[in-house]
Amino acid sequence: MTQTFYVTTPIYYVNAEPHLGHAYTTIVADAAARFQRLMGREVRFQTGTDEHGYKIAQAAAKEGIEPLAYATRISDMFRATWPELNIEPDNFIRTTSAEHVAAVRAILKKIYAAGDIYLGSYGGNYCVGCERFLTDKELVDGKCPDHHTPTQFIEEENYFFKMSSYQEALVAHIQANPDFIRPERYKNEVLAFLKEPLEDLCISRPKSRLSWGIELPFDERFVTYVWFDALINYMTGLGWPDGQLFAQYWPAAQHLIAKDILKPHGIYWPTMLMALARAEGEPEGAYLYQHLNVHGYWKIGESKMSKSLGNVVKPLALAKVYGPEPFRYFVLREMAFGLDAAFSEEALVGRYNSDLANDLGNLFSRVMNMLHQYRGGVVPEPPPDFQEKPVDFDAPATGVFSAAAHQHCVARETATAYEKEMEEFSFHLGLAWVWDLISAANKYVVRKEPWALAKDPAKAQELDGVLSRLCQALAAVVVMISPVMPETARVMAGHLGMGGIVPGMLEKIKAGEPLLASGARTTKPPALFPRIDTAKVAAKAAKAEARAEA
Ligand code: ME8
Ligand code: MG
Repeated sequence: MTQTFYVTTPIYYVNAEPHLGHAYTTIVADAAARFQRLMGREVRFQTGTDEHGYKIAQAAAKEGIEPLAYATRISDMFRATWPELNIEPDNFIRTTSAEHVAAVRAILKKIYAAGDIYLGSYGGNYCVGCERFLTDKELVDGKCPDHHTPTQFIEEENYFFKMSSYQEALVAHIQANPDFIRPERYKNEVLAFLKEPLEDLCISRPKSRLSWGIELPFDERFVTYVWFDALINYMTGLGWPDGQLFAQYWPAAQHLIAKDILKPHGIYWPTMLMALARAEGEPEGAYLYQHLNVHGYWKIGESKMSKSLGNVVKPLALAKVYGPEPFRYFVLREMAFGLDAAFSEEALVGRYNSDLANDLGNLFSRVMNMLHQYRGGVVPEPPPDFQEKPVDFDAPATGVFSAAAHQHCVARETATAYEKEMEEFSFHLGLAWVWDLISAANKYVVRKEPWALAKDPAKAQELDGVLSRLCQALAAVVVMISPVMPETARVMAGHLGMGGIVPGMLEKIKAGEPLLASGARTTKPPALFPRIDTAKVAAKAAKAEARAEA
């Protein structure tokens, strides 16, 4: 049986336009999906928009239009943004769609019938930005720590989900499955939270206060709390309760979120899934997702970026200037998955010039130029024993990772390490390995001086070996960057005559098998990543700063 992989992003609120933070999570999901396809798995990648609740109702009212018309407009902006970043989701879900509404009502009915939802009353501090009640402990100077706005005290009759009955089972599951929530720091955060007794979750809003939501199937005076509605999207998108897709993909579900929504995903959602399983007479763990992958926050200057603070970067502005592929590379290479990272145009341009123009672009153009100059653009047959001979570097390897890459300039070890990191969403490390190989290959060129070998007819075989080795290293690089820069990889593969990038290629690299046949015809490429003038970028930044101060 083919292994499956189902990855989801949060469904984004439609109260503001897509920004860098949304783009990052969605790029990560896209790169993960592409990597898993490369590994030969059957993959489904879902994103979408979260369209009910106060925030949306308020934002629509502010513009004087109906919530659905407003939600549709912004949802369409999200949908249109992703292809511009070379992101290709298999499904885009909206919580206002008829299938989703029906699924939420069906799940509520089942859990209600099983006795896990009851009518009660509750008073607490509500943050509209978070769309949830905050505990006293969470408040900072009476304000929401994330939105810096005062909370509202609200007391009313509502329906509650017996989240507390699943507390012990959830703790046990997390302890038995240490990578259920990863990286570890976020697992620890959830466990720390679960040390205190869980309260039951208020899952309704009286229509008198809010009507923009899914009506409760058992009491028409209420609509469903937006989080109880939104989380279910991950199942609706697979056609729950029927269908082949759900059976095929749900057992392989992996969610991707930033740390801001850890609590709903680490606590509300798994307890909801346990309640659903219980209502259906299944074992409690039957529907639990496989992994919750949590990343940190992009910050701009000192502060975290968010739409409520108004300092968001329009991702497409910079992705348009520098291209979607360098943008994808930058965010995946720059942020250590799980930790916060700082975003700046200077840092993006810095990495563009050093990693893409100098390292990758330079290697590709010099190898292809030499191949055309000395061998008519045809990949030569290496001498019989050539692959096994180490490269006689007299200087020690300077790369941080791979001594073998430096000694042999082959990709075997790189590919194994890369695969491990990519499986765990550690893209920054996966890419660091690949760049280690690129730098080894660049050093190999300097060391072997193919231009000198070309002058000496007695060295013709050695030149064949050197050029063939460099071409194979390049082909391996192309395969490994393909999840991150799919279009660049496609163009490079075309010039190298690789005939596309297909599942099984990474296995070949790991086994030390060549990806290019001897005799393969290549074509001369244009400069892939022309250098960017940093003085111009600095002048632009200074101007923007002066404008901001004025
Ligand atoms: O929370 N850095 O939607 P949302 C990194 N609708 N990622 C960021 C970020 C930043 N500065 N800012 C936002 C919601 N994100 C709910 C989710 S899911 C069932 C419902 C990304 O529009 C990150 O993925 O506020 C974060 O978790 C998400 O956007 C929050 O998006
Ligand atoms: Mg948010």
